[in-house]
Amino acid sequence: MLMKKRGYTYEDLITCSKECLPNYEEKIKSFYAEHLHTDEEIRLVLEGSGYFDVRDPTDQWIRIQVTPGDLLIIPAGIYHRFTLDTKDFIRAKRFFVGEPVWTPYNRPADDMACRKAYVERLQLAS
Ligand code: LAC
Ligand code: NI
Repeated sequence: MLMKKRGYTYEDLITCSKECLPNYEEKIKSFYAEHLHTDEEIRLVLEGSGYFDVRDPTDQWIRIQVTPGDLLIIPAGIYHRFTLDTKDFIRAKRFFVGEPVWTPYNRPADDMACRKAYVERLQLAS
């Protein structure tokens, strides 16, 4: 249903834990570096928990705790980061439109087209 409505053509499962994630320390570090993507980041949490931080329009962090059943759609071009909590475990479905690209662009990435488009949408909305 979700896949049809939003046109997702790809789905997989990601597990973040010391045992399951290759290069765990490195990955966890890169998830928590402030970054953006050229596409939406879509996560449906199945097990475990964690925190997504997103920048509000005044550039302050908003912390979003995610637990099973939560669906989070992070727009292209918004600065964000992710961290596990003390349970060190989360399992989530990832969705994507087209061939998946997970590349993070660390801040500053203000000259990227996806960033400019996001900022423009913010300004139109205010
Ligand atoms: C990612 C999340 C962790 O880029 O922001 O996969
Ligand atoms: Ni991300």
